[in-house]
Amino acid sequence: MRHDHLTSAKQLSRADIESVLDRAAEIDADPAAFGDRHRDAVLGLCFYEPSTRTKMSFETAIKRLGGDAVDMGTVESSSVTKGESLADTARVVEGYADALVLRHPSEGAAKMVSEFVDVPLLNAGDGAGHHPTQTLLDLYTIRENAGLDDLTIGIMGDLKYGRTVHSLAYALTNFDADQHFVSPESLKLPRSVRYDLHDSGANVREHTDLDAVLSSLDVLYVTRIQRERFPDENEYRAVAGEYGIDLETLESARDDLTVMHPLPRVDEIAPEVDGTDYATYFEQAHNGVPVRMALLDQLLEADR
Ligand code: NCD
Repeated sequence: MRHDHLTSAKQLSRADIESVLDRAAEIDADPAAFGDRHRDAVLGLCFYEPSTRTKMSFETAIKRLGGDAVDMGTVESSSVTKGESLADTARVVEGYADALVLRHPSEGAAKMVSEFVDVPLLNAGDGAGHHPTQTLLDLYTIRENAGLDDLTIGIMGDLKYGRTVHSLAYALTNFDADQHFVSPESLKLPRSVRYDLHDSGANVREHTDLDAVLSSLDVLYVTRIQRERFPDENEYRAVAGEYGIDLETLESARDDLTVMHPLPRVDEIAPEVDGTDYATYFEQAHNGVPVRMALLDQLLEADR
């Protein structure tokens, strides 16, 4: 990796991505070979928003590399409630750790903190902004199941507030991928993201109806409506339950379609899909461990 801090998927070149995914594949093939590589490394976890997968897979990843994690805990149990600023907390925790992982509700938080700390800072989600480490595990899952070039992907759901969507879309501009965005009108991609994608020459189309593209897709990436980001609960209610897939929806899909979801899901994928060959979302979540091991391995190696 060329960069110590990873705050946005825009930073990632094709070579950066491939080197992390290749390392993750080596780890997947022989995890024990990496078990001792970062014996004294400590990872600092600062999560100002709920997390299950991201936090636990980072923790598992550093432990499987021989290191350990220190966790700020919940906002309520930390000095944040005493009025400590984000920058101060980060400057303190960097003294305890070799790298920091930050999740925060404000867009731009990770970029801001990266100006204050010397250890590598990994953005684990900044509001509706970016989630680049999720993207790396998404790309790993896509590469394993469908291949990253000559890819036709549908990205469906909350494209406005979904940070995993923004990061994935940027990263896919490094590959030969046709990106079809499917959402209700009010949840379309933010103008800035659409502009950047067009500017990069990416092949991008927008739809309000999945049926228009489903039969051409190699991958369908479904996301939940980001209820917590809506300024007004009525706006959320107006779109809740607007889209989703079940076995009937998938009748026109190709047999080898890969269905992904960053999780957690609410009601956008019916549980009856879970037992089919389409369902790849639990495998995707499990890929968080080798991919985050690979990323940490590279960052901590470069830091030595
Ligand atoms: C995502 C997130 O936090 O943005 N979750 C995750 O990290 N897997 C997606 C979501 O919360 O909908």
